[in-house]
Amino acid sequence: EPGEARVISLTRPAGAEPPTAPDMPLLRQRREELRAHIAEGRLDAVRRQHSLGKLTARERLALLLDDDSFLELEPYRRHQAAGPGLSGNRPHTDGVIAGSGTIDGRRVFVYAQDFTVFGGSLGEAHAAKIHKVLDLAIANGAPVIALNDSGGARIQEGVLALNGYGGIFRRQVEASGVVPQISVVLGPCAGGAAYSPALADFTFMVRDTSRMYLTGPDVVAAVSGHLVSHEELGGADVHGSYSGVATVVHDDEQSCLADVRYLVSLLPANYLEPAPETAEIGARDDYRPRLAEIVPAEPNRPYDMREVFAELADDGEFFELHESWARNVLCALTRIDGRVVGFVGNQPSVFAGVLDGPASQKAARFVRFCDAFGIPLVSLVDVPGFLPGVEQERGGIIRQGAQLLHAYCEATVPRIQVILRKAYGGAYIVMDSRSIGTDLSLAWPTNQIAVMGAEGAVNVLHRRDLATAADPAALRAQLVGEYTQEYLNPQYAAERGLVDDIIDPAETRAALARGLAMLRDKRKPPPARKHGNQPI
Ligand code: HXC
Repeated sequence: EPGEARVISLTRPAGAEPPTAPDMPLLRQRREELRAHIAEGRLDAVRRQHSLGKLTARERLALLLDDDSFLELEPYRRHQAAGPGLSGNRPHTDGVIAGSGTIDGRRVFVYAQDFTVFGGSLGEAHAAKIHKVLDLAIANGAPVIALNDSGGARIQEGVLALNGYGGIFRRQVEASGVVPQISVVLGPCAGGAAYSPALADFTFMVRDTSRMYLTGPDVVAAVSGHLVSHEELGGADVHGSYSGVATVVHDDEQSCLADVRYLVSLLPANYLEPAPETAEIGARDDYRPRLAEIVPAEPNRPYDMREVFAELADDGEFFELHESWARNVLCALTRIDGRVVGFVGNQPSVFAGVLDGPASQKAARFVRFCDAFGIPLVSLVDVPGFLPGVEQERGGIIRQGAQLLHAYCEATVPRIQVILRKAYGGAYIVMDSRSIGTDLSLAWPTNQIAVMGAEGAVNVLHRRDLATAADPAALRAQLVGEYTQEYLNPQYAAERGLVDDIIDPAETRAALARGLAMLRDKRKPPPARKHGNQPI
């Protein structure tokens, strides 16, 4: 079976003949046993895995990592448990392949659950191997990637299995903000096990084969009588579009694992190191006239903010997070002049780009990630406000908006705000305004920064005049014109120091490259305290 014959150990690259000396027969015998286990052990299970449209754990590792870079840890490990199906059945690896390898030559730690061994279920030995990988990742300051494909807690190992999960969660929290954590769900991930991907910085899923839920369809049917399929309950699109647990969704494992490699190319190894830089490509002198064509002058005409991202990013490329969830805000990692930055942008083509609860949470988590790992933030603002409504208020939009506010206020990385078209009210303040600590605020000449739009403002300020006017329509038009002239332009904010500069839209990429260069050495120690109390 492809990939299955790769026996890789710490001392020997894949494919190389064992250099075992003739006087070490025991070692030779052990290695042969291991090779036999990996190559032939579970052919039926491997075929079944393939028939489900899934790759095996070793095939996945081969796609994820650079060729022959994988160093396997504890391949001999076996469970010491008893119970139905376990007694006398102690396969090597205990259902998880653990170790380290490289992606584009950069070290990562990795574990891949092997569904062909006890359904990838997690027992004490299996968990101990994962604990070791997480401990090594933290100690060595390298990203950790989990390939999940598991039936959950190994039922026969009872509370020891649950204990193993607790140890994973505790280490993931310890690793949070220290090394990037990526979770790739490539099969079932049920029950409390789903908290592992939820604790990661990035979670990938694949349509039709990945599923994640706290209680499966059987329990849902028993408790509520509601019949639901695995895919409807916890498939990739459920988490990619509704719950927000999945950061990225793919159609197949190959493209998913290739995308994980791309993501890693944008991430620093740990919080102390910079993200990998590529060569400067002269962005400081770039002139992009198309930007003014993408963004319509009329304040309410929709457009796709992704086109702005593409115009500003090196080679037009960016890695978008949560593409199908909270689509009214966009978050992406990209490079400007070779340096990694995080883009947050309102999306005028979805709900006019208003901020609501999920959008606030999506952006807040991204801002916190970038801040934790020293990635500068560029906020591209075109926002009419927060979404009004009973549902929003009941759903906690105040709390969720406060999460975004808290995240920005706390961020000490270089921060640049660009106001493209409109920035009204609280949403203007929250989208990294000068008042909450942006380092550089840039505005396009045509934009509108104000407490609210002209119509709304005139209604509030001149209600009585309008009610008694002989020609209310004419008066309204006159007042709207006056308000627009006086307040709806960046000049008012620029004269008061709230906007650093008014720029030609075509110069935006150049201005960002220059601003990022200016802020390159920004250091801002956090205040002395244990930690803040973000309004989660
Ligand atoms: C022990 C397990 C297992 C488990 C699967 N297997 N899950 N063994 N403990 N949790 C074994 C099966 O017995 C089978 O062994 C092999 O793995 C393949 O499983 P199948 O059922 O044949 O595969 P499939 O039909 O694809 O179904 C996959 C599945 C199903 C949907 C995951 O196996 C299943 O429902 N498993 C139980 C899921 C579950 O309830 N887990 C506990 C969740 S609670 P053989 O020998 O026949 O090949 C939890 C708590 C975590 O995880 C708490 C954290 C705090």
